[in-house]
Amino acid sequence: MRLTILGATGSIGCSTADVIQRHPDKFSAHALIGHQNTERMLQLAEQLHPQWVVMTDAAAARSMEGKLPAGVRLEAGMDAAMELSAASETDMVMAAMVGSAGLPATLAAVSAGKRVGLANKECLVTAGNIFMQTARASGATIVPVDSEHAAVHQCLMGHDHQSVAKVILTASGGPFRDRAPATLIDVTPEEAIAHPNWDMGAKISVDSATMMNKALELIEARWLFDLSAGQLSAIIHPQSIVHALVEYTDGSVLAQLAMPDMRMPIAYAMQSEPRLASGIDWLDLARTEQLTFQAVDEQRFPAMRMVRHVMSSENSLAIAMNAANEVANQAFRKRRIGFMDIVSTVEKVLDRVENIPVGELDEVWSHDAKARALANEVIAS
Ligand SMILES: NC(=O)c1ccc[n+]([C@@H]2O[C@H](COP(=O)([O-])OP(=O)(O)OC[C@H]3O[C@@H](n4cnc5c(N)ncnc54)[C@H](OP(=O)(O)O)[C@@H]3O)[C@@H](O)[C@H]2O)c1
Repeated sequence: MRLTILGATGSIGCSTADVIQRHPDKFSAHALIGHQNTERMLQLAEQLHPQWVVMTDAAAARSMEGKLPAGVRLEAGMDAAMELSAASETDMVMAAMVGSAGLPATLAAVSAGKRVGLANKECLVTAGNIFMQTARASGATIVPVDSEHAAVHQCLMGHDHQSVAKVILTASGGPFRDRAPATLIDVTPEEAIAHPNWDMGAKISVDSATMMNKALELIEARWLFDLSAGQLSAIIHPQSIVHALVEYTDGSVLAQLAMPDMRMPIAYAMQSEPRLASGIDWLDLARTEQLTFQAVDEQRFPAMRMVRHVMSSENSLAIAMNAANEVANQAFRKRRIGFMDIVSTVEKVLDRVENIPVGELDEVWSHDAKARALANEVIAS
């Protein structure tokens, strides 16, 4: 199977490269797509020898000229990423760019009917209706890579959709689960990015600390599994061993467990059956001291209260929530706002946007742009 990896230079991209290298008889890289990290891309190109390397940032691509291994061709720009995602030489696309920037190339792969390993949740939050309709029309297979959604996918296998009562996503609660709320105002980007269980990119790590990540994941699950808002909830599980639970109408609950290492859901997305060796540690429950669960405290994590409002509204609000969060998350990482300002910025934007159905891609981008402008205004004030 020939893969095109969108976001190859990121955390999920590099874990995907690791799984490919464990199974050289089964997988190869057709194209590696990065944005600005040329050093990482050069290493990956040496390891995987793809046909193509694309840097979506033109200056980054220029700086790589003449440096790639012989036979690896170089391109620049998002159009090249879209073209290679849809190319006949690509059998599968790993969609792991961060943010709604990943939507055009992921959608190109879906339109071309590819197998798509979907890590980029922002795609579905922003354009879930368009994305899923396109997949139905093209026959694309979408396999979730987010560990919670990969868990749900496994728990649903072989079961009737009508028998599903509830889907519960687990959340570690991030680094500030037990920190005194009054001290959250002083949180630094370094503290927010240091996740206790998962080694992830900077944006998703901050999203985990605010629990905006779980809010985005609830919307993602809604589209992926065709569920109502009332069927979805989240629970804090600090050990990140149980990734999700599915409760059936007879009261039976199925859960999926694994050590917290993204190579497991990545390997599952690449080949679901028979299972692949993913390289993760075996789960030894006898040595796992405790598996604990607690309700989400919505005072501490207002993003979780906000998402219930967003899920019971029209999809313009989900677009605005995602876009405002991308802006606020980045402003926090650049020390322009405090940690507590991230979710409050999103809330202020949601108070000011239209609550209307959005069904076309150009409308999606226009709502996204308006919400980004409003978020920047809120931050500037
Ligand atoms: N990491 C995890 O464990 C995990 C788990 C579940 C879901 N996810 C989801 O997977 C996606 C990627 O997460 P990650 O942690 O791998 O992020 P990451 O480490 O920050 O990597 C992000 C990737 O996206 C590229 N990128 C950044 N801005 C871009 C832009 N404007 N246009 C095109 N490409 C751009 C980066 O390129 P350069 O680095 O070359 O600039 C990099 O390859 C996110 O949607 C996240 O929510 C991640």
